[in-house]
Amino acid sequence: MQTQIGKSVFNAKKLLSNGKLVAIPTETVYGLAANAFDLGAVSSVFRAKNRPSFDPLIVHVSNLAMAEKIAIIPDELRQIVNILWPGPITILCKKKSSIDNLVTAGSDFVAIRVPNHSLTLSLLDKLSFPLVAPSANPFGYVSPTSARHVFDSLNGKVDYILNGGSCKIGLESTIISYHNSEIIIHRLGGISALGIAALIDLPIRINIQNNSNPAAPGMLDKHYSPKVLLRIISPKNKEIVDENSALICFGSQSYSKHKYILNLSKTDNLDEAAQNIFSFLRKLDTLSINCAYAYLVPEYGLGAAINDRLKRAAVH
Ligand code: TXA
Ligand code: MG
Repeated sequence: MQTQIGKSVFNAKKLLSNGKLVAIPTETVYGLAANAFDLGAVSSVFRAKNRPSFDPLIVHVSNLAMAEKIAIIPDELRQIVNILWPGPITILCKKKSSIDNLVTAGSDFVAIRVPNHSLTLSLLDKLSFPLVAPSANPFGYVSPTSARHVFDSLNGKVDYILNGGSCKIGLESTIISYHNSEIIIHRLGGISALGIAALIDLPIRINIQNNSNPAAPGMLDKHYSPKVLLRIISPKNKEIVDENSALICFGSQSYSKHKYILNLSKTDNLDEAAQNIFSFLRKLDTLSINCAYAYLVPEYGLGAAINDRLKRAAVH
């Protein structure tokens, strides 16, 4: 099967209603969507991504009312998503029985968000079921920020790609939960910790799992990895580098000799860097080089999430 790419919400709806897989655009990254209530379709998502069944799937809904149908949402999280949805924030909440254990990998908690993309919102509005949609990449590889990226790694495994152009944010959603009067951040993403802190008068704790055999699923050290060997280096250390290489850098950082220089944002703009990071990591695999290097970016704004992705991409 050759995967079709198009802009037809009607086609996407028809396929999803028949248990098929459709890649959907969001403001963060493209998702590999299926009917969350159709367990055959949900299983196909795990298979298409080669994703282990212990790694649960995010559920996408069209609005807060639909989210309340599938989970119990604490007031504290409701206060945040009331402002940020549709947008790059995912909440972990106690699931209701309509969400099967297959979706949550056996957990009582389900991850939910309302994505901010007109095509996908119009699709969700027309559906009578929520969509599971993990990022539309093979497990462990770099997330897709364009229809072409999805096609390049999942052609033949997804029935249709709804083409919504390049993702505006370019990093996955920030995942949060509420526990013991604290907001806990489980994954850094499209909204910074400060962006959340501005919305609620509660302590914010960042709790990112960083081991290779995680108790919390999906937080494996190695992730977002290009096939080419990537190393994080610092512009301050004059390390010996292989010149037959590419360097991912940012702004006016200085560099030594590399065959290719991929600058995330020549104007020091971290939003632009976020938009570019995944396409640059994918680009590394198309270049004829021995290895690749990256400099970390400043930690403010989306910088912390970009650095998280770079560090995981460099684990081999
Ligand atoms: O921006 C995004 O969140 C994108 C777009 C497509 O919406 N989706 C995305 O999905 O990044 P995925 O599957 O690539 O990453 C979701 C992360 C995984 O690390 C998964 O383990 C975690 O969320 N997750 C999902 N459901 C969970 C649950 N019930 N409990 C704990 N972690 C969960
Ligand atoms: Mg992913």
